[in-house]
Amino acid sequence: MPIRISNRVRRFALPFLFILVLAALSGCTPHHNQSTFGAAGPIAERQKDIFVLIFWVAMAVFVVVEAAIIAITLAYRRRHVEGLPEQMHGNNRLEVAWTIAPAVVLAIIAIPTVNLIFSLDREATAAASNLEVVVTGHQWWWEVEYTGEDVVTANEVHIPVGTAVRIVLHSEDVIHSFWVPKLAGKVDLIPTRANQLVVEATEPGVYFGQCAEFCGEAHALMRFKVVAHEKDDFAVWLDGMRRPALPPAPGSPAAAGQAIFAGNCSMCHSSQTTNPELARSERDTQGVRQEQFLKDLEDSAIIAAPNLTHLATRLTLGAGVRDLNEGTLAAWIRDPNDLKPGNRMKKLANVYRTQGLNDDQINQVVAYLMTLKPGPAGQAPAGQPAGGAPAGDPVARGKQLFTSAGCSGCHATTPDNIVGPGLGGVETRAATRKPGMSSDDYIRESIVNPAAFLVEGFPPVMPANFAQTLSADDLNALIAYLKTLN
Ligand code: CUA
Repeated sequence: MPIRISNRVRRFALPFLFILVLAALSGCTPHHNQSTFGAAGPIAERQKDIFVLIFWVAMAVFVVVEAAIIAITLAYRRRHVEGLPEQMHGNNRLEVAWTIAPAVVLAIIAIPTVNLIFSLDREATAAASNLEVVVTGHQWWWEVEYTGEDVVTANEVHIPVGTAVRIVLHSEDVIHSFWVPKLAGKVDLIPTRANQLVVEATEPGVYFGQCAEFCGEAHALMRFKVVAHEKDDFAVWLDGMRRPALPPAPGSPAAAGQAIFAGNCSMCHSSQTTNPELARSERDTQGVRQEQFLKDLEDSAIIAAPNLTHLATRLTLGAGVRDLNEGTLAAWIRDPNDLKPGNRMKKLANVYRTQGLNDDQINQVVAYLMTLKPGPAGQAPAGQPAGGAPAGDPVARGKQLFTSAGCSGCHATTPDNIVGPGLGGVETRAATRKPGMSSDDYIRESIVNPAAFLVEGFPPVMPANFAQTLSADDLNALIAYLKTLN
């Protein structure tokens, strides 16, 4: 029975189909931020060449096959004859032909493709001598480390132009895929092994990237940026990452925010990774944080989280979900799930389970985070500055340091255990734990060298850098304060 298309369907269906095809084709515009056709570097260019080759080979196959179908249909269409047409079986010549032809077509595609795969892998290995960046995938953000430079950041990969850069890919949880369409094809990040790829940008600019392997609830919001700088500007960026931010002025909202950050956020987010020692300890600490999280997926108070060093210089927040500014930052802190459903900050961070932060406190944290940018050269080494602790009375000073240096994030001032042991009665316990050692020495050693007397059952996540970030006076004040707790 012939198919009848009603006039009404014809009137609407054809324009609709036309718009659909137009919309689909518009995805191919090289101007789009994530178009593989807008190759912005030699590696993406060579990969695009392979695509173009395959396209034309496929086009030739399409034309030959369609032409044959049309020609045969016309030549052998049913004419006015009675009965079945002549029946046939087997044709050696034809069968050999359509076995060899696809093999030739596949060889034309395979030889340059396989060749390019292997040569890009060799080039990735060789590019390590220019610059190597280690990218670790987390649900749902990217940790970024510069090998040999002791620089750590997140969700932004800065590179110099005209330089082939080796990117080493790891995953801390599930399979992700690193994809910057304008710079290179995608490569998976797989737990327990390292993959690599090479990227190179010809022009300075910001290139959009995103995770290209479904990895859970916030997969579509696991984005990142590659920022390509002129070579000199890249050196300036790298140098800036090693310069501590200016500490907030005492008494300013930012100083208050710093104390709130230290007490509530700093267990998972480092914010001042500006020297080699801190960068190395960050690497270990992130691993331990993730281990702690994996041990207790539902109720862990700690998890690997994006490093926030010089956050104020970044373009976006939440792994690319919004442009970064004071408004979006406040919205993120108020309810991260609002901007990025599925992320684990609200679920795991103690502050959201308890009283939460009020608007003033949120604004103070935002003010602090906006101070996180490279300070002037020759600044004092990074640390968790005491934030205007009162001089004079050591106990009062210690009490303030307890929050501003971040102790309160993990330790209660009572005997109750949170992430770390409760510190009520610590002086008495110190005497029984290490007889012969003064309680002052025991407490001091526990602060500057957390691994020394690690209490069983607690995760080894305490920062090991207090000897650098706290002065001798700070330490004495802190010890004086801790001894008053019971
Ligand atoms: Cu990570 Cu999708």
